[in-house]
Amino acid sequence: SRTTARGADGALEVGGVSVTRIAEEVGTPAFVLDEDDFRTRARSFRDAFAEAFRPLSGAQVYYAGKAFLCGAVARWVAEDGLGLDVCTGGELAIALRAGFPAERIALHGNNKSRAEVTRALENGVGRIVIDSLDEIGLVDALAGELGLRAAVMLRVTTGVEAHTHEFIATAHEDQKFGLSITGGAAFEAVRRVLEADHLDLVGLHSHIGSQIFDTGGFEVAARRVLDLVARVRDELDHPITQLDLGGGFGVMYNTQHTPATPEALATGIASIVEKQCHELDLEVPHLSFEPGRAIAGPSTQTLYSVGTVKDVRLGGPHHRVYVSVDGGMSDNVRTALYDADYSCLLSSRVSGEMPEVVRVVGKHCESGDIVVKDEYLPGDVHRGDLVSVPVTGAYCYSLASNYNHVPRPPVVAVKDGEIRTLVRRETEEDLLGLDVG
Ligand code: LLP
Repeated sequence: SRTTARGADGALEVGGVSVTRIAEEVGTPAFVLDEDDFRTRARSFRDAFAEAFRPLSGAQVYYAGKAFLCGAVARWVAEDGLGLDVCTGGELAIALRAGFPAERIALHGNNKSRAEVTRALENGVGRIVIDSLDEIGLVDALAGELGLRAAVMLRVTTGVEAHTHEFIATAHEDQKFGLSITGGAAFEAVRRVLEADHLDLVGLHSHIGSQIFDTGGFEVAARRVLDLVARVRDELDHPITQLDLGGGFGVMYNTQHTPATPEALATGIASIVEKQCHELDLEVPHLSFEPGRAIAGPSTQTLYSVGTVKDVRLGGPHHRVYVSVDGGMSDNVRTALYDADYSCLLSSRVSGEMPEVVRVVGKHCESGDIVVKDEYLPGDVHRGDLVSVPVTGAYCYSLASNYNHVPRPPVVAVKDGEIRTLVRRETEEDLLGLDVG
């Protein structure tokens, strides 16, 4: 749909701008973010969850900034009425500088520093999601020093681990995040927070994984969290009124992925939660969710220029064409790191040549520097062509590096025929400026 609109010259158009013009104006590689797409998606998650939970106790969507965050994105998310999940002081700094309303920010992290917690408290961040028993004392003490109360959630681990269509309901809990429900740490944490002098327990938090396509994992996780809510009611006589079920909704990186609509996800989860609360004789808590990838991912494509094209003989009739582009694992490490399955297309022109399977690789000094493992591109792809890799809006810029002293690409927004730089390209001076020895 969006990635198939072509202008008269055959060049792909996004946000009313041709990729050829983008390449001329800002160079390549570049992250090209379709502003309307991002905002439409953010609002549809906001509305779908608000609607589905309206007859219950309501729901709020927090955009998970780890997927991609910059000042403009923070301002859009603020304007569109979502909350924001940040997990470091750096993400918090971007949000605060953009004027994001602090009471709609949630601070995460398994190892928050004193400085991060202090900054969150001083700025009136809406909730701090506590991840360990040790952190209860830290946040309580810092709130006490500042003479205020901290609204906290407790991140619990449910033993559910979800990836795509499969989930493991008894995943072993050998990981760094959260407080174990089965191990008893979660209940103990609730008890300690309720006893703490400067903490207000807002609710419980659970995040089960990422790139998830159905609601089965959420069903098991919600049940385990609600069992804990019931136990807290029964044994500590305390009502827990808010629940955050995290993010993790999947996107379509290739044709094998079929994401549910936000509406289908929201209504599915709402009916699960309602049924479980009924069984446990609980008031349905206020729910929140933290999608990152599903909002940011599809909004962006990476635009690369083709350089070297190499036809490598593999013995007998076999060969493989390596198409090199001017970026690589420094702007998209997900293929190398997670074996992610991106696609790409020739975007500067149309070609009548027969498509053939090629491997798109970067310019880094490493053979694992693969952007797209196998993709059909026209047989005449050559130096100077532009290639677009769709769905790179989540965890590509945010995971980018300066490997091999390659400067990071810019992020530009396109909308109504205009190009606007959100994050400028790094320069050689930026890189040299860090080297002060
Ligand atoms: N909330 C919490 C507490 C999380 O830990 C995460 C992701 C999210 C929300 C957002 O999840 P999403 O909706 O974006 O799936 N670098 C990996 C993904 C790491 C996700 C970590 N936490 C990747 O590129 O696939």
